[in-house]
Amino acid sequence: MKRKTVVVGVTGGIAAFKTCQLVSDLGKMNFYVHVIMTKNACEFIAPLTFETLSHNRVSVDTFDKNYLYDVNHISLAKKCDVFIIAPCSANVIGKIANGICDDMLTTTFMATTCPKIICPAMNTAMLENVIVQDNIERLKKYGIQIVESISGLLACLDVGKGKLADSDVIIESINDAMICDKYLKDKNILITAGATVEKIDPVRYISNHSTGKMGVAIATCAKRLGANVTLICNTNEKVDPNINRIDVKSASEMYENVKKEFDKCDYLIMAAAVADYTIENISINKLKKNDDDLALKLSRTIDILKYCGENKKHQKIIGFAMESENLIDNAKSKLSKKNCDLIVANNINDKGAGFATNTNLVTFVGKDEVISHELMSKIDVGYKIFEYIKEKE
Ligand SMILES: Cc1cc2nc3c(=O)[nH]c(=O)nc-3n(C[C@H](O)[C@H](O)[C@H](O)COP(=O)(O)O)c2cc1C
Repeated sequence: MKRKTVVVGVTGGIAAFKTCQLVSDLGKMNFYVHVIMTKNACEFIAPLTFETLSHNRVSVDTFDKNYLYDVNHISLAKKCDVFIIAPCSANVIGKIANGICDDMLTTTFMATTCPKIICPAMNTAMLENVIVQDNIERLKKYGIQIVESISGLLACLDVGKGKLADSDVIIESINDAMICDKYLKDKNILITAGATVEKIDPVRYISNHSTGKMGVAIATCAKRLGANVTLICNTNEKVDPNINRIDVKSASEMYENVKKEFDKCDYLIMAAAVADYTIENISINKLKKNDDDLALKLSRTIDILKYCGENKKHQKIIGFAMESENLIDNAKSKLSKKNCDLIVANNINDKGAGFATNTNLVTFVGKDEVISHELMSKIDVGYKIFEYIKEKE
């Protein structure tokens, strides 16, 4: 895949030091990064830092005599897939909202046609100033995405809103903006993720090794592709705040919530590892150990995928099958028994597949085909699922 270019604008705010980490992270994610600084930003961070981290020359001066062979603001504007300004000062917000281009950053921003993102960061009183608020509203009206600043202790020792958004939120806004074809817009997608937990007593439980990485990755893809996403999960993974997250623990809680949401959804993707058995009598008090062995009576949980398959109307259902043998046969049997439209099958014994990894090795088992995929990131598995869905629509 072609490497994408992110132009990062840096303005004269104290949060400029955080942009060093952002530029470094973007480089590690295989983006080409070009940094443009305002003259005042250079009072906070030396351009050399960004040049080293981005492996590219930093632009500050529109009329740089060493750079005249190329109209730099136009060439950068053309190269750019996403333009982000982080941190963005009240001053630059005001300039852009009013069409002023009096330096390299604002001139290039104006010449750029790709998606644009602004991350304001400033003192709370500055941020709440009606002029700044009006300017931010104007930027939104012009289609510029705003990554809201967050509340906390500011550098000026005030406590309030105005801190630069966290790096992972900013990076997600860039990944989101990279996808222009939001083909899941207006679709409601219900996803489950993670392991369920069946209590034995107030201290102990039975569960499995699922971390929720796969389901969260699918939810992230769906959100980036424009869908309204509901994620029913038990996970410690970070979940984008634009995803409607419902936390559950047990298989029965997961069932109740899936049942409630199922009618509204267009697609159900069951990536959670739901317990097949639960404890028949959960002890209210902690079970005391003695010298005897202990037998726990397990009873079957409700099969959520089967319930949804039997009750589906307009919905399409995608299930997951994790197997240790007879992968394709078991997946085919699950597809028909559970009335699914696709089974994403993976083998727990394959290197790079299964629990807790950032990659997966999957085979799509549909009604008329079996498609084997190469080892890829769980995010890319998510995109493959939605490409498959799109083709079938
Ligand atoms: C120590 C210090 C910290 C500042 N922090 C911010 C800030 O976080 N946000 C902001 O909008 N302005 C801040 N300013 C004010 C800007 O630097 C000032 O408005 C400047 O003109 C912005 O220039 P630029 O927008 O061209 O980068 C700060 C100024 C100083 C001296």
